[in-house]
Amino acid sequence: MKIIAYGIRNDEKPYLDEWVANHPDVEVKSEPKLLDENTVDEAKDFDGVVAYQQKTYTATVLDKLGSFGIKSLSLRNVGVDNIDAEAAKRNGIKVSNVPAYSPAAIAELAVTEMMRLLRRTKKFEDKERHGNLTWAPDIAEEMNQQTVGVFATGRIGRQVIDIVRGFGAKVIAYNPYPNPKLKKEGVYVDTPEELYKNSDILTLHAPALKENEHMINDETIGQMKDGIRIINCARGSLIDTDALIRGLDSGKIKGAALDVYEDEVGIFNVDFGSFDKIPDARLKNLMERDNVLITPHIAFYTKVAVKNMVQYALDANVSLIKTGTSDKEVKL
Ligand code: COI
Repeated sequence: MKIIAYGIRNDEKPYLDEWVANHPDVEVKSEPKLLDENTVDEAKDFDGVVAYQQKTYTATVLDKLGSFGIKSLSLRNVGVDNIDAEAAKRNGIKVSNVPAYSPAAIAELAVTEMMRLLRRTKKFEDKERHGNLTWAPDIAEEMNQQTVGVFATGRIGRQVIDIVRGFGAKVIAYNPYPNPKLKKEGVYVDTPEELYKNSDILTLHAPALKENEHMINDETIGQMKDGIRIINCARGSLIDTDALIRGLDSGKIKGAALDVYEDEVGIFNVDFGSFDKIPDARLKNLMERDNVLITPHIAFYTKVAVKNMVQYALDANVSLIKTGTSDKEVKL
């Protein structure tokens, strides 16, 4: 069996090599480049493809894979929003993802950012760099006094709930399909509006869907509690960045932490050499604020998560090739 793995980074390579050593019957070609129109021909003569990228898996690429007889594409990440679903279906290409490589990795970053906002660490670090070791005016707030609103209670949202409860925070949540255990515990509110109105900190854990694009916009920000803090470690498309900036300018939003950004592709995980050279004025506007934390989509970037992404995706690809199904197959 022959698999080609695209976009393999140096930090993934040891986990790929470990998997290969344990699967002598499978040949894996590791390709550092992403899967696109320029590299798809390399997949010819392989039985399956493993990939991770934020760049789109286009119809042209999927048609080419189909023409090579490739029927299995295993992503090393969760999100499948960058796949041309129609083209995958038309070519009979089954797609798998890694739905739970480490929910804790994402949840822990979300809570870290809540704490950093509350304790104003960005401001203190900046003051320290300038030799200023004073306290005022940056007095903090405590997590145990907060109501944390969790939008979407999948694996990651539930992990966030467990962690913030450990701090003694009050938790409320919204999900169109409530989790039975959380429902019994009385965690849910009935509408997003109720969540916005009652949260001191709002943390987003929904996938990117057409229906929720820019769900955080001028109107929904208007429904929020004055002085809310917003955390997004989910998908950039959930937030209308211009509306967020307006909310920060007016003081309605007291702080925000974004690990994802709607225009992040081609910007996050790139070294521009200096702040000035970052080619995105809105992002720089946000980065310059001491009440806004920007991290370049690093929530997933832990040793446990990266290992699981590589090895679970290879397992899923083998299963798709051998049996035509996998417990990680995604319904497109
Ligand atoms: C996902 O798994 O969908 C992510 O957002 C992480 C990705 C940047 C590797």
